[in-house]
Amino acid sequence: MEKIQVEICLGTTCFVMGSSHLQELIEIIPKRYNDKVEVSGKPCLGLCSQDCEYSQAPYVKVNDDVVSQATVEKVLKVIEGKIRNNEK
Ligand code: FES
Repeated sequence: MEKIQVEICLGTTCFVMGSSHLQELIEIIPKRYNDKVEVSGKPCLGLCSQDCEYSQAPYVKVNDDVVSQATVEKVLKVIEGKIRNNEK
């Protein structure tokens, strides 16, 4: 089974809007889901410039799904949903 890819935006807009908290995910994810999920920090994912949606930052991508106004809890929920789907 392919690993779920989690990309945390560390670009300026997302950083200002709170993505520094999301860096916790870089520690949490390997501990919880080591064999199922791969996490990485990325420069601007290009989402903050679409439709002037600055207010929806910070962004995290879980595979092709965009999590806006991302928090650690929100991202973990999306990951767990995907793990459950993969196990069906
Ligand atoms: S800075 Fe995060 S999408 Fe642009």
